[in-house]
Amino acid sequence: MKAIQHISYGEISESIIFSEIEKPTINKDEVLIESFAVSVNPLDIKVVNGKLKGLGKYTLPATMGYDVSGKIVEKGENVSNLNIGDEVYAYVAKQGSFAEFVSVKENIVSLKPKNISFEEAASLPLVSLTASQVLKRGKLESGNKILIHAGSGGVGSLAIQLAKAKGAYVYTTTSTDNVEWVKALGADRVIDYKTEDYKTIVKDADMVLDTLGNEYTEDAFKVIKNGGKVISLVGPVDKETANRMKLNFFAKLYLAWKRRKVTKQIKLKSAYYSLLFMRANTNQLNAVTNLVETGKVKTNIDKVFPFEDAINAVLYVDKGRTKGKVVIKMK
Ligand SMILES: NC(=O)c1ccc[n+]([C@@H]2O[C@H](COP(=O)([O-])OP(=O)(O)OC[C@H]3O[C@@H](n4cnc5c(N)ncnc54)[C@H](OP(=O)(O)O)[C@@H]3O)[C@@H](O)[C@H]2O)c1
Repeated sequence: MKAIQHISYGEISESIIFSEIEKPTINKDEVLIESFAVSVNPLDIKVVNGKLKGLGKYTLPATMGYDVSGKIVEKGENVSNLNIGDEVYAYVAKQGSFAEFVSVKENIVSLKPKNISFEEAASLPLVSLTASQVLKRGKLESGNKILIHAGSGGVGSLAIQLAKAKGAYVYTTTSTDNVEWVKALGADRVIDYKTEDYKTIVKDADMVLDTLGNEYTEDAFKVIKNGGKVISLVGPVDKETANRMKLNFFAKLYLAWKRRKVTKQIKLKSAYYSLLFMRANTNQLNAVTNLVETGKVKTNIDKVFPFEDAINAVLYVDKGRTKGKVVIKMK
């Protein structure tokens, strides 16, 4: 079967290729999904760039991709909740969705929302799970104020809708060209970062979703209330996570040094800070299915590329200006 693989660590243009590889075989608790559509995430690019080498075991060549939608064509003998022919979508935690077929454990596969196309469904798993997990970790409640950075991005565009569905007041940042598009997603106050400074607009927020890192992580503490929360997707590793990572003394010391500015801000604001690593979660993806089927959440697709043009799809996301999601149509 055909697949997009990364063969070396480095720039996308030099490190990913089309390969002809064996169709996967499935274990007792897996299903084989025939991919109809997949979507590209910045995570795919970070893996190829080698930025996450320390976190996972990547053996090259490796098939890229984490999001898939398609039809089940085979199922293992222990699979009881899914059937051949089911239309499904999933976040493929072990990576490898950019291929004509992908094997996935049954317990992380959900039935795709009935009212959307395979392309739309493929745009959802990673970003909607991330947004759901951020709001859960921050215990966002109705009436809370949240600042979501990069509202026009894959995660931001979902997080705005999920936060609105919970009854929160949503501030978000984006550039001039995307202001109207982001407003239409339901954000209450869209801040054009080209002409406005969010730090003078957002005050006493209950929570910030930091999708940008660096100074955005530190400055998040300036706009939260005392005791507020900052959940980052890209900031320094928090103390609790570092403790769970079973690192040696020097690695822990290095991480503590990396988060020293954030540590100072946490103390000043009596704040909660957490770096979130999203995970597969079928219950949460099923909840997203329900929100999509009841019209409370819309998918946001910037561009659909044909499979033959998949490398350009990845290069497009690498530019960092995606409005919503980029999808690769496999069928
Ligand atoms: N830790 C985790 O588990 C996890 C999970 C998901 C994602 N992430 C990470 O979170 C980050 C965001 O992911 P994503 O999928 O949302 O990325 P994305 O879709 O590629 O984000 C692109 C968007 O970012 C906006 N943007 C760029 N700079 C901005 C700025 N200074 N202020 C406001 N908006 C800005 C762009 O809007 P303009 O063109 O208008 O600037 C564009 O719409 C990535 O680094 C990703 O790797 C981590």
